[in-house]
Amino acid sequence: SVHHFNITGVTITAPSDSPNTDGIKMGSCSNIHISNTNIGTGDDCIAILSGTTNLDISNVKCGPRHGICVGSLGKNKDEKDVKDLTIRDIVFNGTSDGIRIKTWESSASKILVSNFVYENIQMIDVEKAINIDQKYCPHPPCEHEKKGESHVQIQDIKLKNIYGTSKNKLAVNLQCSKSFPCKN
Ligand SMILES: *[C@@H]1O[C@H](CO)[C@@H](O)[C@H](O)[C@H]1NC(C)=O
Ligand SMILES: *[C@@H]1O[C@H](CO)[C@@H](O)[C@H](O)[C@H]1NC(C)=O
Repeated sequence: SVHHFNITGVTITAPSDSPNTDGIKMGSCSNIHISNTNIGTGDDCIAILSGTTNLDISNVKCGPRHGICVGSLGKNKDEKDVKDLTIRDIVFNGTSDGIRIKTWESSASKILVSNFVYENIQMIDVEKAINIDQKYCPHPPCEHEKKGESHVQIQDIKLKNIYGTSKNKLAVNLQCSKSFPCKN
């Protein structure tokens, strides 16, 4: 885990068809600032995993490939809350998703995802601009599938001034847990 760490003025590239090439991936981290950074890879632009708190991302360009993703969360035991994220002044250009939160169905961990602010975000031809997916199961059937709904509680998420174009008809997908519905 990493605490009090800043990344600024960095460019990260990988071919868009290269698998598992996340730009920045972090878990169990706190007080991280990422700014003035360009990321275009074959996987997530930025991936935010279990136990990450106090993260500030600003002036970042993402694309091609995936967007800024929280998760996947909830699959394993002993995962920790993800909270206090500010993500602002971002351009997603030609990505498959922009704002994304994904949690496994019927998760082993009962954790909280809370207090996020997404602000001033431009989408250019993004496939799924805003995507909360609490039925994440990349390779069905999932081991957890039969046990029910995600136990990850998503709450206090603010989306402000999100604009641009989406590639799909469905720009905003909110698929929240039936057991722990998204709040506020
Ligand atoms: C990181 O940047 C923030 C905001 O500019 C600053 O307050 C903080 O002290 C910096 N931290 C480090 C470890 O440089
Ligand atoms: C978006 O990406 C396309 C294709 O790479 C590029 O031509 C265009 O300038 C980019 N737009 C912005 C606003 O960065």
